[in-house]
Amino acid sequence: MKLIFAWKADLVAPGKLCYCRPVRWEDLRHMAKWPRNDDPKEAPYTDFPRDMASLENWYRSRTNTDYKRTWTVLDERDKIVGRIGIALVDAIRKEGLLSIRLRADRLRMGYGFDSLTSVLNHWFDTLEMQTMSLDVSILNIGAVKLYEKLGFHVNGYHWVPIARRHMVQGTSEAGFVRYLDMSIERDEWLARKKTTSRKAR
Ligand SMILES: CC(C)(COP(=O)(O)OP(=O)(O)OC[C@H]1O[C@@H](n2cnc3c(N)ncnc32)[C@H](O)[C@@H]1OP(=O)(O)O)[C@@H](O)C(=O)NCCC(=O)NCCS
Repeated sequence: MKLIFAWKADLVAPGKLCYCRPVRWEDLRHMAKWPRNDDPKEAPYTDFPRDMASLENWYRSRTNTDYKRTWTVLDERDKIVGRIGIALVDAIRKEGLLSIRLRADRLRMGYGFDSLTSVLNHWFDTLEMQTMSLDVSILNIGAVKLYEKLGFHVNGYHWVPIARRHMVQGTSEAGFVRYLDMSIERDEWLARKKTTSRKAR
């Protein structure tokens, strides 16, 4: 298959605290050692693969395609702190579906906001895409706040199956949890960027 998109050349400008570069095979050995993920906030997603065959599948499915982008997030000392993915990249409608996962011991240090700002600048400014969407569990309050801080707004919601042991009275009923559908448009992002840089002057 000839790829239209040169994902290895998908260079995101560095942020203030960290930088994102296209994921490399050797990064997976590092990520596979992160603590297992059984967090109900992130359910129903399956944990990162651990065995070699699944790791190879994961890597191939993210790099050998025009429909996905994956970046590794590294801190100022070149230590891996997370990864960011864009799935369902639709070059015609200029849309994508965003996801982020940071190491559990590198949360609340500003890396989420900084790395996503860089990726969204890249998406809207460099690649001239139109829309970025995502979905997030209402149990994941920190992530919802982060997305709101970046300018995402809620368009609706859908229900996603959740393991019985993760159910929380009032928010997840009959084995389902509510997921918010959020998005931001190019003109909204560029307008926010202009206001932020004017304030910084
Ligand atoms: C969600 C996630 C990406 C946030 O990244 P982070 O680096 O921890 O967040 P930041 O330090 O950049 O915080 C930016 C803003 O997000 C909000 N926020 C982040 N975590 C929060 C928390 N636990 N509680 C409340 N607000 C939170 C705040 O508004 C914060 O701004 P402030 O510092 O001015 O208050 C990170 O926690 C993570 O990877 N979690 C595990 C995976 C996950 O849940 N991914 C999202 C699935 S949709």
